[in-house]
Amino acid sequence: MPLVTSAEMFAKAYDGGYAIGAFNVNNMEIIQGIVEAGRENNAPLILQVSKGARAYANPIYLKKLVEAAVEDSGLPICLHLDHGDSFETCKSCVDGGFTSVMIDASGKPFEENIAITQEVVKYAHDHGVVVEAELGTLAGIEDEVSHAEGSYTRPEDVQEFVERTGCDSLAIAIGTSHGAYKFKPEQCTRDENGILQPPPLRFDILEDVAKRLPGFPIVLHGSSSVPQEFVKIINTYGGAMPDAVGVPEDQLRKAASMAVCKINIDSDIRLAMTATIRKYFAEHPADFDPRQYLKPARAAVKAMVAHKLVNVLGCNGKA
Ligand code: G3H
Ligand code: 13P
Ligand code: ZN
Repeated sequence: MPLVTSAEMFAKAYDGGYAIGAFNVNNMEIIQGIVEAGRENNAPLILQVSKGARAYANPIYLKKLVEAAVEDSGLPICLHLDHGDSFETCKSCVDGGFTSVMIDASGKPFEENIAITQEVVKYAHDHGVVVEAELGTLAGIEDEVSHAEGSYTRPEDVQEFVERTGCDSLAIAIGTSHGAYKFKPEQCTRDENGILQPPPLRFDILEDVAKRLPGFPIVLHGSSSVPQEFVKIINTYGGAMPDAVGVPEDQLRKAASMAVCKINIDSDIRLAMTATIRKYFAEHPADFDPRQYLKPARAAVKAMVAHKLVNVLGCNGKA
């Protein structure tokens, strides 16, 4: 099976009350860990490439690695551009064989966001490629936007945006944010055991958006859960990550059962790899062959992704 778009994946996910995992890829071990988890759980996958990943790994290498994953696994896999920042970046990915692109003009005024998204949709659709767009702004370490009310997606805008742009899916802001430091202690409450509890996602906005766009696939960015066991391992073995938590998995599961068809996870992959490698180095100080520490790091990615596929996304068995 060749690379596929996300169209059929999303249609089935919407009807089935689950979501597809969109995992960021930067190198061979990450791709192998994700795809091995997908294969063992018979799950469709979206592998997404950011501008930073393109700069780090070279788009040709990433494309060829993903093609190898498709050939080796036989799974339906969609290759997606994450946070495309311009028509030119999106065009380059369409021309390079991606099956899905995101144009993220969410930081621009509404009319400008519509205009640039329209341009990308026209080019992408002419080449059989689907387009994700975004309305609303996520908080997070990348842009340092705060959780002000104004950054949430305004449900009253979504219908006009989707109709005028013709985009195939829409990322919305309901309180998730990018990175491993999503919710700092001052943004949280504590439960009776002293565990940090982040502010709940705005399910009222998601419900309102879903009512206005029946059957239309919604995307959540910034959906890592920042597993505290990884942060603890990192800090035990020489790291210095400050106290922060991510999006609770039960809330993501709930979103996946609603209109959310794509859930983006990157930071949790980084945490799983780094925790494993830091521990490995501490326990094997004489080792120096990269295969020795990348092998358990790849296995940690696989275990973490398998957990997400089964317990959070619910897309196991849906390939
Ligand atoms: O949303 C951003 C993704 O986590 C990609 O991050 O730009 O550091 O590759 P990156
Ligand atoms: P996280 O930083 O929460 O993993 O989000 C990743 C993401 O949204 C990629 O687009
Ligand atoms: Zn994102």
